[in-house]
Amino acid sequence: MRSEDRIPIQSTAGNRPMKRHHTARYYAHRVKESLTTRVSKLICTIFLFILFVLGLITFILWLSLRPHRPRFHIHEFSIPSFSQENGYANANIIFNVTARNSNPKVGFYYDAVQVALNYQEQNIGDMTLLYPFYQEPKNTIILTGNLGGAALKVTGERWQQIMADRTRGVVNFSLELSSSIRFKIFTWVSKRHKIHATCAVGVGLDGSILPSYKDKKCPVYFT
Ligand SMILES: *[C@@H]1O[C@H](CO)[C@@H](O)[C@H](O)[C@H]1NC(C)=O
Ligand SMILES: *[C@@H]1O[C@H](CO)[C@@H](O)[C@H](O)[C@H]1NC(C)=O
Repeated sequence: MRSEDRIPIQSTAGNRPMKRHHTARYYAHRVKESLTTRVSKLICTIFLFILFVLGLITFILWLSLRPHRPRFHIHEFSIPSFSQENGYANANIIFNVTARNSNPKVGFYYDAVQVALNYQEQNIGDMTLLYPFYQEPKNTIILTGNLGGAALKVTGERWQQIMADRTRGVVNFSLELSSSIRFKIFTWVSKRHKIHATCAVGVGLDGSILPSYKDKKCPVYFT
């Protein structure tokens, strides 16, 4: 028996367990590596998911809590003595405006509402409508009143102008409602914001609001 013949056999026999040992370690390493990758991927996914949920909650809260400004509409405006020659002597103006709080979660604290009637940019009447009040979410209040007597400052001269407009078919007035408003969200109450709603009114021959002005939105602005 030649020793050269045995050497390869011995060496292969010795090599086989060596190779098997190396492979096992290699796989153990691979498994460990993929496990850490998986764990870090999982943490990443959880983190992103939490971030997504937080973002969604913030977005929904913002949508439901973002205060919408009050919405004002004019429904009625009439001057019963309109067809009388010297109707200004006993003129009174009846109006009906609604203020809507469309917010599902936000309440409004109103101070008293000041009503001003303007004709050709001039103030011709003033009155205070309500004592301070709270308006609940999803609620509409009716602001109605009767402007007459001392509250109405119409001179004979101005009445002539108004009558001249009337013969042309339309008299333009603007009814301005002003107040201060505070927003209430849960228990938090904002500071006061001055709010104004200006209702454009066109009055026809009979002294009633023209259909094209009825139930129209009154633009709202804050100062
Ligand atoms: C004011 O107008 C609203 C809406 O059209 C109506 O529901 C309400 O009855 C009116 N109120 C008065 C006092 O005219
Ligand atoms: C009244 O207002 C309308 C627009 O709302 C305008 O077209 C019209 O000229 C005005 N009439 C008078 C007499 O000022």
